[in-house]
Amino acid sequence: MQLAHLWLTDFRGHQESEVEVGPGITVFAGGNAQGKTSVLEAVGWLARMSSFRGAPDSALVRVGCEKAIVRAEIVPANRGPDVRPDLIEAEIAAAGRNRVLLNRKPLPRARDLLGSLRTTVFAPDDLRLVKAGPAERRTELDDLLVALSPRYDAVQSDYERVLKHRNAWLRTWSRADDPATLDVWDEQMVRAGAELVRGRLKLLDRLAAPLGKAYGDVAGAAADVSGAYEAAWAGDVILDETRLDDVAPLLAEAVARSRSADLERRLTLVGPHRDDWRLSIDGLDARRYASQGEQRSLALAVRLAGHVVISDVVGEPPVLLLDDVFSELDESRANNLVAHMPIAQALVTTAGTLPPGLPAERVVWVAGGRLEAREEQGQ
Ligand SMILES: Nc1ncnc2c1ncn2[C@@H]1O[C@H](COP(=O)(O)OP(=O)(O)O)[C@@H](O)[C@H]1O
Ligand SMILES: [Mg+2]
Repeated sequence: MQLAHLWLTDFRGHQESEVEVGPGITVFAGGNAQGKTSVLEAVGWLARMSSFRGAPDSALVRVGCEKAIVRAEIVPANRGPDVRPDLIEAEIAAAGRNRVLLNRKPLPRARDLLGSLRTTVFAPDDLRLVKAGPAERRTELDDLLVALSPRYDAVQSDYERVLKHRNAWLRTWSRADDPATLDVWDEQMVRAGAELVRGRLKLLDRLAAPLGKAYGDVAGAAADVSGAYEAAWAGDVILDETRLDDVAPLLAEAVARSRSADLERRLTLVGPHRDDWRLSIDGLDARRYASQGEQRSLALAVRLAGHVVISDVVGEPPVLLLDDVFSELDESRANNLVAHMPIAQALVTTAGTLPPGLPAERVVWVAGGRLEAREEQGQ
């Protein structure tokens, strides 16, 4: 699917903005703090129903307003030219429930929006994927899972809900309470947790080859890049796509084994909420041993590989969102990225110049939360 038209109402600094988006590369240019990233953030919100900057929904609503509205016309793939695009209207509430309308009719649940639009984000912050703790990498995998199949959104929220209840019980239990109360939480935790882990393992298998290739493309030199699933609860068992049937029994056993420690510490100590995706370059943990340049290449490669996997599985590429990435890259990585950029609709922000190899279909100037489109001449 592709984005055809976008309207923002009270989204961040945009009081009322509108832009038509072509099938190629649309560049959003302008000075700092003018509202460029906000445009991409709004599109990203439609795909994942959260900000790729990690901001809470309340921060997306223009200060002093009750809700932000992101309205988008989306052209589904494989439809003839005579078919009307879908109109999505997402109302993001500063407090309370969000509401989403598809072709003017409210969706039964706002989260039914997931699957309507997919995006691949490149942003300066991506380095955190490699450098920061395991949570960043789990989120990366879980976001990709939702893009591949929206039902994983429900699996993830099931798991988080059970974990919250279980931890709440652990925090407040007293000797008079029967620890068998945990049986119910344990069973639900294992069911949702094992499904999540199986999804992550299948995803890692799909990512392996594209990740190696993308790293070589971006870094300009081949290296042995690998990603292994690390789960302390699995003990000596190395979890991969050949062990899918072992996941639930192993997790159940580990949760049972950890019960007395959980009671003691008043916290759920084992499970997929603590797992990691260990990325290495030539056998060395990238988080600890890779140079800054290698880490940057690897972060780009992770996003590119995710893009390839989604395109393959879903049958059409996600919309690319490139937020100010070229300012952070040295010239060779920037050129390599442009040379290997997947063919897809792209929205690109910049406060400066873009690599010459990036052919913009149109440039939109962003100033003070206002957009002004200018057709590029002769490109
Ligand atoms: N919720 C909000 N309400 C009003 N203004 C906001 C809100 N969030 C951010 N802004 C404003 O938007 C501007 C930043 O927008 P951003 O898209 O990050 O700019 P750019 O990418 O062009 O540097 C800042 O001036 C900031 O004050
Ligand atoms: Mg910005």
